[in-house]
Amino acid sequence: MKISIAIDGPAAAGKSTVAKKIAEILGYTYIDTGAMYRAFTWYCMEKGVDCQNEDECVALIPEVTIKLRPNGVVLCNDIDVTREIREPRVSGNVSYIASYKDIRLFLVDQQRKMASKHSVIMDGRDIGTYVLPDADVKIFQIASVETRAVRRYDENIAKGIPCTLEEIENDVRKRDYIDSHRDFAPLKCAPDAITLDTSFMTVDEVVNAIIEIINKKLKEKENA
Ligand code: DC
Repeated sequence: MKISIAIDGPAAAGKSTVAKKIAEILGYTYIDTGAMYRAFTWYCMEKGVDCQNEDECVALIPEVTIKLRPNGVVLCNDIDVTREIREPRVSGNVSYIASYKDIRLFLVDQQRKMASKHSVIMDGRDIGTYVLPDADVKIFQIASVETRAVRRYDENIAKGIPCTLEEIENDVRKRDYIDSHRDFAPLKCAPDAITLDTSFMTVDEVVNAIIEIINKKLKEKENA
């Protein structure tokens, strides 16, 4: 049976960390949709295009190929951009790129194709509401802005990406606003999603809680 799990939520809520672990434990394919928007943003910046100019960014669609490798490597036109896409300059622009409908349709099409081939755990902003509305399990993972900023700061420092906590907190607030106020497929909790506030939970606690939800939902489906 092919299973799809959607994990949505605001920036830096720890979605990718837990989704990766759950994918490993359950043997599903992990799909980091944020990395795809980041890779597109990186490409626009490489080309010297203003990320706030929708027409110029959309015009680049035909020349962009994004691949997600199972080991977490992100390729944009076969260039390894895994590290670059986490840099603050990309984080600061990605919400503009993610607000452009044509770019979303281009990437959503690829996301749906990946989910049609494998059992997936996919994280993003619109997975449960738009990309995979029939996902077997939908989680909306949240945490306070302060908690999320500290988590993302620690993650960046561990990866050797220079940043300040203040810069990260401002970026998280700005992205929360843009991601939830765009017209097309904004960040929103699906009506049938389970909200999990992880502000005071460890990674393992979140992983275990989500696996419990998945097992319960799948059992309910089997018995239905
Ligand atoms: O999860 P992340 O921080 O890597 O995502 C980067 C940006 O991409 C985020 O600010 C919003 C956008 N995004 C989106 O709009 N839809 C998705 N499915 C995933 C990410």
